Formats: sequence, structure tokens, C-alpha cells
Amino acid sequence: MIEGISIEVKNLSLNISNNQILENISLNFEKGKIHAIIGPNGGGKTSFLKCLLGQMPYKGEILFKYEDKDKIGYVPQTLDFEKTLPITITDFLSMCYSKKPAFLSPNLKKKELFNEILEEVGLKHKEKRLLGNLSGGELKRLLLAQAINPRPNLLILDEPFAGVDTVGEQYFLNTIKNLRDEGITIIWIHHNIKVAREYADTITCIKKDLKFQVNKDEEISNERLLDIYS
Ligand SMILES: Nc1ncnc2c1ncn2[C@@H]1O[C@H](COP(=O)(O)OP(=O)(O)O)[C@@H](O)[C@H]1O
Ligand SMILES: [Mg+2]
Repeated sequence: MIEGISIEVKNLSLNISNNQILENISLNFEKGKIHAIIGPNGGGKTSFLKCLLGQMPYKGEILFKYEDKDKIGYVPQTLDFEKTLPITITDFLSMCYSKKPAFLSPNLKKKELFNEILEEVGLKHKEKRLLGNLSGGELKRLLLAQAINPRPNLLILDEPFAGVDTVGEQYFLNTIKNLRDEGITIIWIHHNIKVAREYADTITCIKKDLKFQVNKDEEISNERLLDIYS
């Protein structure tokens, strides 16, 4: 079993150029669970994840319970790159896993590792494909592959289903469940509250401030939902 990371957020606020993006958020994420984050577009979900990742000038405290060897895996909402770049899946993985320049071809050991990694996310035999030619779903799966190998103690996913078809989505959902069962803490932004309720252990709603955090089985009243999405 993997020892997941737990997180305590205290009075987190984020203000960028006089725009109050997040306001006074306090909550806990228990280890080894799937925590879904929902909320309207522009509500600050991605910004919240970026605070957790230390990429935003937030105020307040974020306390991680972790060990020195622990890792965080991250699948971003988008990956901006020039679509015509001559970079294959193998090149991309080489960049992720190599300490030497990626244009030096990967050694045989790496090739074995890449095969395993790609098989897990259903991209086996596609290693020569160019990144710019991958579908939205394939790209997301490649990003997931590098985020979960080696296994992280905390996995952060920003709308992993955007651009993914139904088969791909089912595949993702099963993978996420399996990772949780391995002990990994998962924080997962999802736009569909129904799916979040089915798969997550807790559901957190952020719309500038914390609207609510409930357990899987707790009722979310219609008033609450109206308040969020109106
Ligand atoms: N780097 C930034 N600089 C200024 N404003 C930003 C920045 N990042 C996000 N915002 C603003 O913060 C708000 C929340 O955005 P975001 O966190 O992407 O929301 P969500 O992921 O919930 O759709 C939006 O109004 C967005 O324009
Ligand atoms: Mg977002």
C-alpha cells in the first residue's frame, strides 16, 4: 500500500491584480480518498489547485502531512504546445524521465519502462505518434501516465475528462478508483456533480469561497445547487 498525503488548508485567499479569486477557504483532505472539487466555470477551482502546487502567491496556510520521499502527480487542465512540433510520445516520455538531453535516444531499459507506462493507459504501440496528432483523450491519458509513474502519494487532476470520449472516461474512472485503492490521495476537479457523487469520497464546492464540503452520502440540497450554478 502507498501512504497517501493528507492536506489541511487554513484561511486560504488569492488576490491577483486586485481580483479576489479565492477567499478565506479552510478545509481538510483526508489521505487515501478521492476528493472531488466542483463549482461553476471561473469559480477558482484551477487556481485553488495551483495554490496547492505552490504556483500561486496565496495568503493563508497549506499544511501537507508527508514524508521526504513522497511525490505529487499532476494532470493539468490543458497542455499548451505548438501542434506542429516534431515531438513523439517517446520524446515526451524521455523528457519526463531523463536527466540527460532528450534528443539522445532513450536506452533499452527506458524503452521497457515506457512500454509498461503506455500499456497501463491504453497507448501501447502508439509511441511513435506525434503529440500534435493525439486526440484530446489520448493526450490526457499520456499526461496521466507520467503523473502516476512512479506512483505518487498525492494525485491532482484538473478536469481529466475534458475532451475524453465515454470509453476513455470509463477507463479513467476505473484507473482513478484503483489508484485510490492503492492508498493514493486524489484531488480531482470535475464538472459533472453526478459523476463526482458516484466516484468521490468527498465533494467540495468552490465558488470564490468554500460553498460546502460533504461526504459521498450526504445530501446536497437543491437550494445549495441553485446558489452555486445561478
Ligand atoms: N494568472 C491569473 N491572473 C489573473 N487572473 C486569473 C489568473 N488565473 C485565473 N484567473 C482568474 O481567476 C478566476 C478563476 O479562474 P480559474 O481558477 O481558472 O477557475 P475555474 O478553474 O473554476 O474555471 C477567473 O476569473 C480567472 O480569469
Ligand atoms: Mg479550471
